[in-house]
Amino acid sequence: MFSVRPDAEWKRYGEMDPYFGVLSQQQYHGSHLNSPARAAFFRSGEEYIDFVLSTIRSRLVADFRPSRALDFGCGVGRLTIPLARVCSDVVGVDVSAAMLREAQRNCDEAGRGGVEFVCSNDQLSRVSGRFDFIHSFIVFQHIPPSRGLRLVRALLGRLTPGGVGALHFTYHRRAPLARRVSCWLRAHVPLLHPLVNVLRGLTARYPLMRMYKYDLNKICFMLQQESCERCHTVFTDHGGHLGAVLFFQKRR
Ligand SMILES: C[S@@+](CC[C@H](N)C(=O)[O-])C[C@H]1O[C@@H](n2cnc3c(N)ncnc32)[C@H](O)[C@@H]1O
Repeated sequence: MFSVRPDAEWKRYGEMDPYFGVLSQQQYHGSHLNSPARAAFFRSGEEYIDFVLSTIRSRLVADFRPSRALDFGCGVGRLTIPLARVCSDVVGVDVSAAMLREAQRNCDEAGRGGVEFVCSNDQLSRVSGRFDFIHSFIVFQHIPPSRGLRLVRALLGRLTPGGVGALHFTYHRRAPLARRVSCWLRAHVPLLHPLVNVLRGLTARYPLMRMYKYDLNKICFMLQQESCERCHTVFTDHGGHLGAVLFFQKRR
């Protein structure tokens, strides 16, 4: 049986092409990543965190000033570093050690203190303490939902009363049938993905980016079970992968 090992793929992304793994646009491929592209990459993170904080302040908590934030699936620190601008303490968590090393380097370069990077597991057992802000963007879409839902539960358990979450999930794929079939074949037929890599001039072991859809009913149910009362939704569309950022607050 062809085994699906998304964590191994992410470890390889971290080692082979971390910036493209985070944002899959040509200018972020290792070979193209010049300094204007790097600047644009980190600017996109600053802009996203500005959007997240302003959405929370306008929709949920007007005077939101988090002190301890968890950035789940932090990658190379694109969003962790701007979070450290507003929080005294930030923990960036990722399954890829190479991503975490790059994140630490970027954080040092940006002169941001108060950030700890931690290698993730499905129990979040290496993450200690509680947080008044839990955050994740374009991460759960790469984790099989059976595991992802357990991780969501673990994250919610670390949220303090009155704390806020902003978590992103994909829930639908809008694409022509032929495209969906070719993605499915690449993910399921042994050796097809390495072959396509080679035909595209990449090394055969270049990782495959898997995408998963979540049932938002299950997430909403979990939010209610974990005393998250108010929720605001912002929809996303990344090339036909439709998603939602759920902003919520836990009961005080
Ligand atoms: C598309 S990148 C997004 C990075 C970051 N959130 C950003 O927007 O800049 C997805 C990240 O999720 C991480 N990831 C994938 N599966 C994970 C898991 N099970 N636990 C923690 N991190 C995971 C990957 O290693 C990768 O760094």
